[in-house]
Amino acid sequence: MSDELVELAKRRGFFFQAAEPYGGVSGFYVYGPQGAALKRNIEDSWRDRFQVQEGHREIEAPTIMPEPVFEASGHLDTFDDMLVECPECGESHRADHLIEDNTDIEDAESFPLDEVGDLIADHDLHCPNCDTSLAGEPVEDFNLMFETDIGPGSGQPGYLRPETAQGIFVEFPRLKEYARNQLPFGTTQIGKAYRNEISPRKSIVRVREFTQAELEHFIDPEEDEPPLERVEDVEVRLYSAPKQNADDGDYLDTTIGEAVEEGIIASDWVAYYVGVAQEWYERIGIDMNRFRFRQHLAGERSHYASDCWDAEGEIGGDWIELAGISDRSDYDLSKHGEYSDDDFTVFRQYDEPKVVERATVDPDMSYLGPEFGGAAGDITDALQRLAERNRSAFDSDEVTVEANGESYTIPVEKTGFSVDEVKESGEHITPHVIEPSIGVGRALYTVLVHSYEEDDVEGETRTRLSLEPELAPTTVGVFPLMDKDGMGETAREIATDLRTSGFDVTYDDSGNIGRRYRRQDEVGTPFCVTVDYEGLEDDTVTLRERDSTKQIRVAVADLADILTDLRSG
Ligand code: GAP
Repeated sequence: MSDELVELAKRRGFFFQAAEPYGGVSGFYVYGPQGAALKRNIEDSWRDRFQVQEGHREIEAPTIMPEPVFEASGHLDTFDDMLVECPECGESHRADHLIEDNTDIEDAESFPLDEVGDLIADHDLHCPNCDTSLAGEPVEDFNLMFETDIGPGSGQPGYLRPETAQGIFVEFPRLKEYARNQLPFGTTQIGKAYRNEISPRKSIVRVREFTQAELEHFIDPEEDEPPLERVEDVEVRLYSAPKQNADDGDYLDTTIGEAVEEGIIASDWVAYYVGVAQEWYERIGIDMNRFRFRQHLAGERSHYASDCWDAEGEIGGDWIELAGISDRSDYDLSKHGEYSDDDFTVFRQYDEPKVVERATVDPDMSYLGPEFGGAAGDITDALQRLAERNRSAFDSDEVTVEANGESYTIPVEKTGFSVDEVKESGEHITPHVIEPSIGVGRALYTVLVHSYEEDDVEGETRTRLSLEPELAPTTVGVFPLMDKDGMGETAREIATDLRTSGFDVTYDDSGNIGRRYRRQDEVGTPFCVTVDYEGLEDDTVTLRERDSTKQIRVAVADLADILTDLRSG
């Protein structure tokens, strides 16, 4: 089925490989006229559900970010896949995929690099491209970020963001100002993310440039609770497997309310967004019999996540990850607070002032002397931050801090470190982040696969995309029965009027009417309007619905209102 879909996608302008005249580049795709419209409609519906209905705000941050961002986020150190290269043809392969595809091992990613090399040798695995043995070849960590230079000869390295999320986290100091320092608040972003995947595969499912729709919901983990009552009755299918990619796990059909009550989804916030995601995937026409949520196993989670549930869709017998709904705790904001000079905390006001212990250092360190090269002020600030974050660092005789890019070790007795009881009206906390992260291309691909149907109409096989009217690239096809006797002019007028009323309209007068219906069925157009002789007499048209092929006669004057009702379901 996927092959037919990919052929249809190419022929009818949904998506195709980029730069084909130059041989194409693996992992880069173009969304054609139908695909770009479908993608935009999916994004708009995501915006409506995850942003507008939740009261969040959207931003647009740069796609290239400087190196320190990714030092702080951990991507520079840990955003790697396992690479093995063929000594004969030079083709690179993902070692874990190679093992999983050719052995019974289902979680090769969790093995250390040297053991992965041994597994390749033990199972005598060969290059899928030229069949050369890969036994004994080194397996290396390969960082997935695309690197670039910012400015000519500047020597300032930058990276294309591997997730849109970092563009939100880095701007938290401004965003909290906009939110008037009040939690909870959410920031969304729909944009490109880039990963230099070792082996892009399955058409647009694993690519090197893709669109993510992400919401970062900043919460006070002790004070804020999600409006669970809004989703408690939402039915979900949860899947738990003993190993990653295993197909012998257990299914549980339940509701969000029950899953929370029974502790199956531990975080109320994650459960809330699992419910929201369930509603949204159903709304965009994913087949709910081929959809499930699966909790990440401990070894599978990203470096930043304390819990994660994936939404998965079935395609051609394989389950692919459509989205991750993660509890990122305070990981990202703490890291950016630690690595930058800005404040990534918010002030939590107490109901009543409290007596608390406060750790401080001497605010005047000028006595540190000339060996500290005039950095005393910065050292003081760094020591004060450390005292607030980690008192135990002052338990030994010496304490080490970073300031101005240097490391300074100072006798604790010289820092004036003390812990005193003071009355506080509140405290600074680092917010936690709940993140639903959705791959737009994967949603689009799954919608296409799940809506692709072949059926029999008047003795002929027709191909049909049963797309939801909200998503269809074209809402209505307008045809004259024939382009003569005024039918063409009337149909063109109706098409213009419907466009002015905000509909995506295709006008078509070529070929017999049955063929024109088939052309629209194939790209998922839910409604077709035909002007015929009878209509010329009484200002009516026939209105045909794609899936049932039923036709009714309606007045031209009522057409826009009827279509508006039909489109919104
Ligand atoms: N900010 C969290 C994050 O980036 P992720 O699970 O790595 O988490 C989120 O990515 C979603 O982005 C995935 O569920 C998937 O839908 C999509 N995605 C990730 N890598 C992709 C790729 N190489 N090609 C297409 N989509 C991808």
